[in-house]
Amino acid sequence: MKPLSRKTAIITGASSGIGRATALALAREGANVVAAARRFDRLEALARRIADEGGNALPIRCDVREPSEVENVVDAACKQFGGIDILVANAGIMPISLMRNLHVAEWMATVDVNFKGVLASIAAVLPRFLAQKSGHIVTLSSVAGRKVYPGSAVYCATKYAVRALSEGLRMELSPSDNIRVTVIEPGAVITELLETITDRAALEEIQKNFEEGRALQAEDIASAIVYAVTRPPHVNVNEILIRPTFQEL
Ligand SMILES: NC(=O)c1ccc[n+]([C@@H]2O[C@H](COP(=O)([O-])OP(=O)(O)OC[C@H]3O[C@@H](n4cnc5c(N)ncnc54)[C@H](OP(=O)(O)O)[C@@H]3O)[C@@H](O)[C@H]2O)c1
Repeated sequence: MKPLSRKTAIITGASSGIGRATALALAREGANVVAAARRFDRLEALARRIADEGGNALPIRCDVREPSEVENVVDAACKQFGGIDILVANAGIMPISLMRNLHVAEWMATVDVNFKGVLASIAAVLPRFLAQKSGHIVTLSSVAGRKVYPGSAVYCATKYAVRALSEGLRMELSPSDNIRVTVIEPGAVITELLETITDRAALEEIQKNFEEGRALQAEDIASAIVYAVTRPPHVNVNEILIRPTFQEL
């Protein structure tokens, strides 16, 4: 039997990058995968790939900024697979910019997706996790949740918030309700994340860290998530920080 047989995992932001790689990796470990994001064609292609590999996947269109859409994902997951065991709250954007350039709409969007979207995802699974006295919540913070970079103030603020939230969740829910919490903190990973940057100066600065062959691959992060969620029930992997070897800060 595979380690995650009969388990169901919801992954937000599964249409690309770390979320997609995590969906594939969890399915290979035997999990039923519920893949959520806005680009449904990408999710359908992912679900076909998982099915071709012998796994189970349910693609669902979802914008994490809409709490009711995240609740629909949870309802659909329960209907299809009978419950939920793992949430990977991964959906995120990184439209970094210098504060002086006043990309205010992007500041707000970053908070809405990276922080409020994580809150909505947690709210959607929590009643079930509390009722079943088990569950695993994996959040995606970042090295930017430990260190502030000029030009990334708002993004860093959301990732600090996700890290604080994860620690608060763990303290409240792990000892009393057997709900495990893992925060993943990647350094530079080559994904589509930089495509959300419209501020040229900020993009030029950050691109140096995302060099092909030196930066991390999405699969490097997916394997850390697999590690966290396949430990025995008494092991709560709280935090994993992963930098590319070349990355100093
Ligand atoms: N790449 C890195 O270097 C790095 C480092 C540290 C942390 N992270 C974090 O890792 C997570 C995944 O990012 P990635 O690097 O894999 O980037 P990515 O390839 O751009 O993936 C981001 C995912 O989030 C989804 N998403 C964005 N807005 C959404 C919304 N409103 N509702 C639902 N889904 C939404 C996107 O799907 P749709 O557009 O289809 O909705 C996509 O699937 C993010 O939280 C990011 O902050 C990344």
